[in-house]
Amino acid sequence: KIEDRGGDSIQFFEVDGIRYPYCSLIDQEQAIKAARDFVPRDNDILLITYIKSGTHWLWEILSMLQRGSAETIPQVKQDCFIEFLSPTQLDAIPSPRVLNSHIWFDKIPTAMIEKKTKIVVCHRNPKDVAVSLYHHHFGLKNHYDYDGKWENWFPLFMEGQYDYGSWFDYVLGWDKAIKENPDYPIHVLTYEDLKTNGLEEVQKLSKFLGFNYDDDLCSAIVDKCHFRNMKIDKQPFATEYLKSMWRNESLSFYRKGEVGDWKNMFTVAQNEAFDALYEQRMKGSDLTFKFE
Ligand code: A3P
Repeated sequence: KIEDRGGDSIQFFEVDGIRYPYCSLIDQEQAIKAARDFVPRDNDILLITYIKSGTHWLWEILSMLQRGSAETIPQVKQDCFIEFLSPTQLDAIPSPRVLNSHIWFDKIPTAMIEKKTKIVVCHRNPKDVAVSLYHHHFGLKNHYDYDGKWENWFPLFMEGQYDYGSWFDYVLGWDKAIKENPDYPIHVLTYEDLKTNGLEEVQKLSKFLGFNYDDDLCSAIVDKCHFRNMKIDKQPFATEYLKSMWRNESLSFYRKGEVGDWKNMFTVAQNEAFDALYEQRMKGSDLTFKFE
């Protein structure tokens, strides 16, 4: 457990210096360690995101692309979350699989690297990530057991003390790994581009995955995975456990789904402090983010 600036505690599970969301239902140490020895299948895709960057959304899009269909299926993103599943559970997932994870490049299963499993990385602007993550920590009572206030929570986000470490280290670390491995098949996109140019981004994904689907299918997938549709369509497939995890009904993996929601939470002082940190940490990087 760590304490926020107001003394409210928040719980995590730590392995090798990285904090993960705490989950009492599984042997986390075993799952996290076993993830490194995971053996991929030829047509697996690995989706990589920093936590709260649109994993559910992109998982759904990739799953539809892989199946060549804009139909919603009962499987949910959590069913394929590699650091939270045992090797037996992972083996039981039928192909085609869209595995997903928030791990760092150096923690990717060795066999995936050898096999050159295709990786899709989705980044989101860190201000919206912060707001989304605060609601996630506050909302998921069983996992984080957290009751604190935004103003006490925010400084620790700036310091990178929460699950999977600093957003800056994460996106810069992935960017470096991608540049150092130019032959590795990795496709990068942003939450914001997916939001504003859905069709174009889905067409690019289709091409990257080697499908080259026509515009009709790509368009149908964009529409089916729109926030308002997914929020309703995926609801019946959330297990009782997944539903019971949330503190109240307004909080879920489908909360607002917008770009710029940070403006409703950040004070002027928080925004200035964050901008200064952003400038310092992103100096020299060619990564750019849209904040509205
Ligand atoms: P907000 O909390 O800002 O609403 P993840 O899936 O990585 O946990 O990310 C969750 C964030 O993605 C939440 O952001 C959630 O509302 C948003 N999201 C989920 N489905 C979405 C969709 N179909 N379109 C856009 N955003 C979506």
